Amino acid sequence: MIISFASSKGGVGKSTCCAAIAAKLGQDGDRVLVLDLDLNQTVARWGRKSKLERVTVEAVAPEAFTSVFRAKTASENFDHVLIDLAGTREATLLKAMARSDLVIIPAQASEPDLREALVIIDDIADVIEAGATKLDYRLLLTKLFPLPTRVTAFAHQEIKRHKIRRLNTGLVERAAYREMFLTGKAPTEAAPNGKAAQEVAELVDEIRQIVETDSRQGGRAA
Ligand SMILES: Nc1ncnc2c1ncn2[C@@H]1O[C@H](COP(=O)(O)OP(=O)(O)OP(=O)(O)O)[C@@H](O)[C@H]1O
Ligand SMILES: [Mg+2]
Repeated sequence: MIISFASSKGGVGKSTCCAAIAAKLGQDGDRVLVLDLDLNQTVARWGRKSKLERVTVEAVAPEAFTSVFRAKTASENFDHVLIDLAGTREATLLKAMARSDLVIIPAQASEPDLREALVIIDDIADVIEAGATKLDYRLLLTKLFPLPTRVTAFAHQEIKRHKIRRLNTGLVERAAYREMFLTGKAPTEAAPNGKAAQEVAELVDEIRQIVETDSRQGGRAA
């Protein structure tokens, strides 16, 4: 699978879910390449701390993206490529999305985040129109409060109104996600039976199913 993590807004949880998902895929026995295109190198720093053998993390300068992507996917055998993008809307975002099977758009259940997510969804529609017909996307709700609030109710209403495709699994605000960058251990390694690990495992199952279904149908499901 080729998955990009995109948002035109910073701090929504892109790097967190990218690293957590990469770790789980690696623990499942798959070979994972993570390309960190953010100059902050959040995921690349995590990769240096991580002990997971099957996960390779590389920091890539935005201008080198296409050549690195081409070289890595041609010469090395990875089952998945995960692309962590900067929280800005620029050319690399479109280039990464155009090469992906799935774009995951992390967003908090808030009006500003959903508004920004709609901007990316519009860009995805453009990329599809330009020829990336297999591309699909899902919104991922992140940093959720464990209990439903008025804001989450509003978010769900807006998701429905705009017919946004979203992952059923969301990531709750949990210490395990913050600790991952400190220790290098993803939730599925640090506490495999914990709630965060369970959440990530469900998320990865859902993602695998979406990409499998799309590829069986030769493009995104209706
Ligand atoms: N589910 C979560 N629970 C707790 N903390 C979280 C969660 N998701 C993200 N965070 C924290 O929120 C902050 C921003 O997350 P992250 O770096 O993943 O966002 P980002 O979208 O990659 O940001 P940027 O645009 O700056 O790259 C970090 O401190 C991270 O630890
Ligand atoms: Mg980031």
